[in-house]
Amino acid sequence: MQFAGSHILSVHQFERADVERIFSVADDMLPYAQRSRVTKVLDGAILGSMFFEPSTRTRVSFGSAFNMLGGEVRETTGFENSAIAKGESLYDTARVLSGYSDVIVMRHPTPGSVSEFAAASRVPVINGGDGSNEHPSQALLDLYTIKSELAARGRGIDQLRIAMVGDLRHGRTVHSLCKLLCLFNDLQVVLVSPEELSMPAEIVEELRTQGHAVLESDVLEESIAHVDIVYSTRIQEERFASQEEADLYRGRFRLNQSVYTSHCEPNTVIMHPLPRDSRDNARELDDDLNDNPNLAIFRQTDNGVLVRMALFVLILDVADQVDQHARDVNWYTQRRF
Ligand code: NCD
Repeated sequence: MQFAGSHILSVHQFERADVERIFSVADDMLPYAQRSRVTKVLDGAILGSMFFEPSTRTRVSFGSAFNMLGGEVRETTGFENSAIAKGESLYDTARVLSGYSDVIVMRHPTPGSVSEFAAASRVPVINGGDGSNEHPSQALLDLYTIKSELAARGRGIDQLRIAMVGDLRHGRTVHSLCKLLCLFNDLQVVLVSPEELSMPAEIVEELRTQGHAVLESDVLEESIAHVDIVYSTRIQEERFASQEEADLYRGRFRLNQSVYTSHCEPNTVIMHPLPRDSRDNARELDDDLNDNPNLAIFRQTDNGVLVRMALFVLILDVADQVDQHARDVNWYTQRRF
């Protein structure tokens, strides 16, 4: 694909070569994300960051990635702080805000809303999550993490065995990740959820059409026994009609150190898009895994900055200028990934 000036709305827009290009640029961003070098390549550029749903890491890591490239960030969070609360349409909001920024990241609760916004925007728009539909930058950082975790074990992404666990019906991260995995070969995908929260049929179909083996189950222990990656997810309580309904499913699948030791192969990688729900009735990924070296959740969040920096420099067409505008940092730093 041509990155310069493009919106990033769905993982469907990528070919395998595009993903490889993003990952290679992400690798080059490491000295900047680790804070041994600073660059001013986006000096003067403005990111419009619009989050109409709760977010910590997506919002802050997009903003940090832009700052680390020398750009500035303007944030709008929550409908209550926006003229959308006065009835303004996405079209008008996009026309207005795209006059104030060079690129926009947007999160919104309605599936398709970010595409609608992008159609009226005069600058590139990145989908930071549109309801239960898609979360393309998360899928990219998840796949980047999968790639580096497997590389450390002498493997590539092809022939990957992965179990996705939890609320597969509403989880936009697993929707985007499954679609992105369709670019690779001979995968085994185990989908573990209560039947009511199963992966949408069209996504299962897409995986099967690409020749991947897909198994659906509602039993955790047997499903995680022969996989390279366990990708756990939170019950997406905000997508349910009531908390009582969400409570029916919370805590159904709990991965902790004892379940891991009894059922997983040694070195199985544990992933989660975060936030994990640490309340007692949930704990889909227990804190007692924190010292497990195969817990990759904080490597995922670190990698998110690299991948988001890569998206910005590609979309704004400065990937080959980053180093020209760089220098070593002045301050003491020992940040390591
Ligand atoms: C996810 C999301 O917002 O879809 N979080 C994130 O962006 N890392 C997952 C979630 O909220 O459960």
